[in-house]
Amino acid sequence: MHVFVAGASGAIGIRLVRQLLDQGHEVVGTYRRPEHAGRVRALGAQPLRLDLLDAAAVRKAVRDAHPDAIVHQATALDGAGFSRNLDRSFAPTNQLRREGTDALLAAAGEAGVTRFVAQSFASFRYARTGGWVKTETDPLDADPPAGAQETNAAMRYLDEVVVKAGGIALRYGGFYGADNDGMIKPVRKRQFPIVGDGAGVSSFIHLDDAAAATVLALEHGTAGIYNIVDDDPAPVRDWLPVLAEVLGAKAPRHAPRWLARLIAGEGAVIMGTEARGASNAKAKRELGWTPRYPSWRQGFRAAYGNLAVVR
Ligand SMILES: NC(=O)c1ccc[n+]([C@@H]2O[C@H](COP(=O)([O-])OP(=O)(O)OC[C@H]3O[C@@H](n4cnc5c(N)ncnc54)[C@H](OP(=O)(O)O)[C@@H]3O)[C@@H](O)[C@H]2O)c1
Repeated sequence: MHVFVAGASGAIGIRLVRQLLDQGHEVVGTYRRPEHAGRVRALGAQPLRLDLLDAAAVRKAVRDAHPDAIVHQATALDGAGFSRNLDRSFAPTNQLRREGTDALLAAAGEAGVTRFVAQSFASFRYARTGGWVKTETDPLDADPPAGAQETNAAMRYLDEVVVKAGGIALRYGGFYGADNDGMIKPVRKRQFPIVGDGAGVSSFIHLDDAAAATVLALEHGTAGIYNIVDDDPAPVRDWLPVLAEVLGAKAPRHAPRWLARLIAGEGAVIMGTEARGASNAKAKRELGWTPRYPSWRQGFRAAYGNLAVVR
């Protein structure tokens, strides 16, 4: 297949391009910052500078490349910290999820590209009632916390328009495995506490596994949503101490809900105490996908074991 990867220079993009090329596909890979051209070229893909928010440029790029498939992995999460107001830190990403997706879908329609896969997100999105592990057909949170409403709405928008156009939205777990992973610093500095009883469930995915599932979705997936997460959705009170230990950091602090609300906002309290995880049963069944790191327990160690600081 000839694949157009938007966001090829990013954390998931690089791994995806590498795996697509290994599988014998041809790739045009887009980047936005000029200094990232070499990164895409070094992988063996054809680099193309593109701003997804320039719809006319997107149309031209897709028309010229004439691909069989498009993958949308463009976000602006790199370096975006978790703040009280996620909507503010995620605003550029939300714009890419709305306008960037619209531009790519319009370009795909015009160029007759029928295979379309886009990056979505699974963790902290499902309704905070009932079971702790959710499938793709379970309802999403109808009442996201203040400061995360626009972010949730943008992800919902992307899911809806992509599936309506006959594409696939991959709801990834929290990515890990990149050296610039946003969790490393706060965990090292003990700024990431276990809130309340720490029952909120997170779903993770190693970036290599996320890329492998994406290749399979491109090759065999059918229109719809897939959770791309590991086999081990787990409460914060279980995974956070393991991550701290792997990083050679001191054990995480505990914070009561009221204090976490005061310092980090309602979103952080919900993530730590009420969030639901996601099931990967559909992706395994329909894509024939098996994660190489079925649990963050071995994945964190493989990804960050060499980053441990000696205390
Ligand atoms: N999943 C989460 O909720 C979350 C939250 C916080 C942090 N993180 C971290 O963020 C990273 C997420 O991985 P990722 O691959 O999605 O993000 P990434 O590594 O930041 O890559 C994003 C890609 O999108 C491109 N891009 C950005 N703006 C663009 C625009 N306007 N038009 C076209 N392309 C554009 C980037 O190009 P250039 O690089 O050339 O600019 C890059 O190729 C991980 O390191 C993860 O740890 C994730």
